[in-house]
This record gives sequence, C-alpha cells and structure tokens, in this order.
Amino acid sequence: MVDMAMQKKLTLLAALALIGSVYAVLVRYTKSTAKLNYISSTVVAMQELLKMFMTSMVLCHESGGLGPAMQLLHHHIIRSPLDTAKLAVPSFLYALQNNMFFLSLSNMDAPTQQVLLELKIPFTALLCVFLLGRKLSVQQWLSIFLMFAGTGLIEYYSAADTKSAVNSDQPVPIASNENFMVGLFAVVVGSLCSAIAGVYFEKIIKTNDTSLWIRNFQLYVWSVPISFIASFINDWRKIKENGFFSGYNHLIWCLIFLSAFSGLIISIVLLYSNNITKCFATSLSIILSTIASFYLFNYHIGWYFICGTSLVCCSIFFYTVPLKCQSTKEPPAEHL
Ligand code: C5P
Repeated sequence: MVDMAMQKKLTLLAALALIGSVYAVLVRYTKSTAKLNYISSTVVAMQELLKMFMTSMVLCHESGGLGPAMQLLHHHIIRSPLDTAKLAVPSFLYALQNNMFFLSLSNMDAPTQQVLLELKIPFTALLCVFLLGRKLSVQQWLSIFLMFAGTGLIEYYSAADTKSAVNSDQPVPIASNENFMVGLFAVVVGSLCSAIAGVYFEKIIKTNDTSLWIRNFQLYVWSVPISFIASFINDWRKIKENGFFSGYNHLIWCLIFLSAFSGLIISIVLLYSNNITKCFATSLSIILSTIASFYLFNYHIGWYFICGTSLVCCSIFFYTVPLKCQSTKEPPAEHL
C-alpha cells in the first residue's frame, strides 16, 4: 500500500508533469501558431515577481498574518544578509536558464527541446561527482552515454526534418527564421544552469531547518531584480518602442501563472523528494507534450524521434535505479 508520504510525492510529481507539458505546449503555441509578439524577457521577469508574491502569501498564511510575516522576513533577509547572499547563486542561474529556455524554444520545436532539456541529468551526475564527491557506477555512466545517443538522434531528426521541409509544400514544424544550433547552445547552457542551481538549492534547503518559503523568498529577492535588469538590458529598445507588456494577452498571463506555479511546486518537490525524481516528472511531460503537439500542431513524429525518446527514457531509468540501490552506502538522495 502506498503510504501518505509517497502519495504526497506522487501527487506533486504528477502535478509537475502536467503543468510542465501544458506550459511547453502553450509557449510553442504563443510563439508560433498564435503569432503573438511578446517580449520573452518581460515574461520571465513577471514570472519571478509572481513567485515572490505567491511566496509572500504562503508566508502570511503560515505565520498568521502580514505583521508576523514581515517580522520573519526582516529577520531572515535584512538581518541575515550573508544567508540571503547564498541564494544569489541559484537565482542568477535560474534567471539565465529561464532566458535560455525561451531562446531555445524560439529556435526548435517543443518536444525536441523537452528531450534536450534532459541533458540536466548527465550534468547533475557530473556535478555530483565533481562537486559533491559522489561515485557513479559503470551502469550509471552507461546510462549517460545512452542519454547522449538519444539526444544525438533527436538532433539528427530535427536537422533532417528541416532539410527535407525546404523542398516540401507541407507546413513545417520549424519556422524558417529558427536556428537549430542557437537553440542547441541555449538548451545546453540552460540545462547546465538548471543542474547546478537544482543541486545547490536542494543542498541549502536540506542542510538546515529554515522554512522552504523563507528560502524561496531569499531566492526571489535576487531573481526579481536580476530578471528585470536582464529584461531592460536585452530588450530596452523593444520595451521603449512597444511597452513592457506589449503583446500580452490572456494566454501570456496563463503562461506566467503556470510557470510561477510550477516553480513553487519544484521547490516543494526538491524538499520532499529530490532533483532526480523531479526529472522523472520532466520526462513524463515530454511524452505528454509530444502527444499534444502531434494533435495541435500536426507535428510529425518520425522513427528517429521515437527511438531518441525511447533511449532517453531508458537512460533515465538506468540512471535512477542504481541511485536507489546505493542508498544504504551513499548519502541519501535528499542530499544530492
Ligand atoms: O529546468 P528546471 O527544472 O531546473 O527548472 C527549475 C525552475 O524552477 C526554474 O525556472 C526556477 O526558477 C524554478 N524554481 C523556483 N523556485 C525554486 C526552485 C526552482 O521557482 N525554489
């Protein structure tokens, strides 16, 4: 029988998978089919602001009102600057990752991007070895090779698909102004940022008993100004000409809400579970978003994509099983 703690974890992971796939499909829709011309960096900034607002709401609820919540924040933010400063690292990395996510999605299709984002698993493995001194079995390294083989197949599929589409009258899934190499670079950098930030944040929330919501607030204290500054630096001309909220409509606000909500769920998953199980949810969202893209955008699913996706899923499985087996010898997964 599944116990309460496991039920909680499974519910969180299912919610994360569902939100992740809806989010990926919606981003794709707003960028291509809906032909909306919003400024991606402003969306990232609004997401961070909304997360900070939602976190404040939780803190008010937990501490019993606005006054006690303000006192708590004064104690943990103003009077603990060094503690708050620690969260600048994942904050900066997450902000960069968010921008890379949009850049990559503008340059490749949603399912391919979702699969390539799984590079965060081998990156997390490498970080565990080099930064946390953890040992990986041959099976685990083999699974990382499988991961690269899978993503290689996806790369090939995308390149072949774009090439053949040049001579075709059929609508193409990748628009002509998209550059796959730019997308690939962005997704690799984004995955690396994600892996470092994830491992770092998980370590912080599990090494002392400061509330998750205080940690989240400390994270967003940095990410809000970072994302707004990044937005103004990168898109100042567009913002000046068209306005910060240019191109915004109900779809964009849905996108902002979904992303903010999923960020908060990720933080809860990292507390009650770990980075690896979070990746399971991501892999499930790949399958869901692929199916959705097939129906919504007439996305062509070739055998390269199916093989690549299968290899990636197998590698996730083989990577995770030994981790569970080693739980008695090694630090528990929570301390990844
Ligand atoms: O791709 P990955 O799963 O690493 O993305 C994590 C996302 O979760 C980031 O967009 C980050 O902003 C968000 N997050 C958050 N709050 C946390 C931890 C992560 O909003 N405490």
